[in-house]
Amino acid sequence: MKTKNKVLFLLEENVNSYISGQHIADQVGISRMAVWKAIRSLKDEGYLIDSITNKGYRLLLKNDILSEEGIRKNLREEYKNNPILVMESTGSTNSDAKKMGIDGALHGTVVVTNEQTQGRGRFGRTFSSSKGKGIYMSIIIRPAMNIQEVAFSTILSVVAVSRAIRQYTSDSLEVKWVNDIYANGKKICGILTELVSDIESGGIDFIVVGVGLNVNASASDFPEDIRNIAGSLQISEVNRNKIISEISMEIMDLFKNFEAEQIIQEYREQQLLLGKSIRYERNGEIIEGIAKDIDPYGGLIVDVKGNDVVLRSGEVSVKMSDDDNVK
Ligand code: BTN
Repeated sequence: MKTKNKVLFLLEENVNSYISGQHIADQVGISRMAVWKAIRSLKDEGYLIDSITNKGYRLLLKNDILSEEGIRKNLREEYKNNPILVMESTGSTNSDAKKMGIDGALHGTVVVTNEQTQGRGRFGRTFSSSKGKGIYMSIIIRPAMNIQEVAFSTILSVVAVSRAIRQYTSDSLEVKWVNDIYANGKKICGILTELVSDIESGGIDFIVVGVGLNVNASASDFPEDIRNIAGSLQISEVNRNKIISEISMEIMDLFKNFEAEQIIQEYREQQLLLGKSIRYERNGEIIEGIAKDIDPYGGLIVDVKGNDVVLRSGEVSVKMSDDDNVK
């Protein structure tokens, strides 16, 4: 770790409290002058650090710069040493994480960026990822799961993210099957889980769980065609590092240990489609029905003219019917 990053780690650990220059110098093993230089360079990067003679330096809580140190300090002990990569800009963190996974990146590696230029959603759609306005992150999971259980990973990830972000909004969160999280009738989060399998063994090599969460975006930050359906958490004092740590921990916890029935129940309780008229496309044909329930494997049970049809993730896309105002 660079000297500057070691200083930042200490400031992050004591955020909003003063630590003396001497204490930093002793902990990092550098001179007071080197501490001063590191602080100056952090300030140049935009960190809000104030200093008082005889008290030392203080990192203000309200800074919202993504950093490995800021994410790491909020992780519980068991995840403290997970690899974390923070970038200013990239095409897609899911694409980066897939490459890293193929090159052997460890389970629990977290890849984060401040902006995506080619953010990807499901079915080849783009995911709008404006600079500094959201959380764009991917986690590499090497699951101890069989291939049947892996089909469950999107549901698991949605429940994990919903648990992590619930505290940040006064609106209740709703999940739109399969992988979207809504607040106040607008989509605030999309999740893209991608599986890389090992062709030789026929087993799972790893999963990439990608999370795109709009944190403080306003309508003008979204492309025009999604302005009326995209929303944002809208937090007054944003600390994306902390939210990223919380999302990462919930995802890793759930992949380590989950009770399928309980997860499905939690997923079902938040489901916004149930009881609504929906349309979906299969083999080029538009089919209409009423969303009835979620089956034990996360499939959407739809009543189509009196018959139950179970939709599985990846087979179809769901569109709300014209008379519903949530899309
Ligand atoms: C969707 O809405 O269909 C899923 C969107 C997933 C977006 C996230 S942002 C981080 C990660 N990198 C990507 O390219 N996509 C996911």
